[in-house]
Amino acid sequence: MSERTLVLVKPDGVARGLVGEVISRIERKGLKLVALELRKVTRELAEQHYAEHAERPFFGDLLEFITSGPVVAAVVEGPRAVAAFRQLAGGTDPVEKATPGTLRGDFGLETQYNLVHGSDSAESAKREIDLWFAGL
Ligand code: CMP
Repeated sequence: MSERTLVLVKPDGVARGLVGEVISRIERKGLKLVALELRKVTRELAEQHYAEHAERPFFGDLLEFITSGPVVAAVVEGPRAVAAFRQLAGGTDPVEKATPGTLRGDFGLETQYNLVHGSDSAESAKREIDLWFAGL
């Protein structure tokens, strides 16, 4: 059964010219792009997107970072799309958790600047897609 996930290329990924690399890996995996847009993220959208992290010590820095420059937001579809993109992304910490061959493992060094976001469950994906692409 097909499902959808929300993917973001974060400001570090856009600034480093890695948008094509991320999209290429999504396509090579066999996943389908159903929405794709370059976006400037408002503080309000960032707070809603990361609401579950509101009590974390890094929340302020996270909002600062995600609103610091344009992101590329995409809705990606395919069988087990949530898990499939998380496999492509690699673990949250690009050095301790992500392995070589993943986006974060190949291109990341720091947990904050970990290049991409992917929804962590089908429920999160639905909430995030409604937030970023209302009506899709
Ligand atoms: P993401 O998958 O977008 O979800 C939450 C984000 O918070 C995560 O990627 C990281 O960018 C960031 N994050 C998680 N843990 C830390 C941390 N310990 N320090 C800084 N940023 C973090």
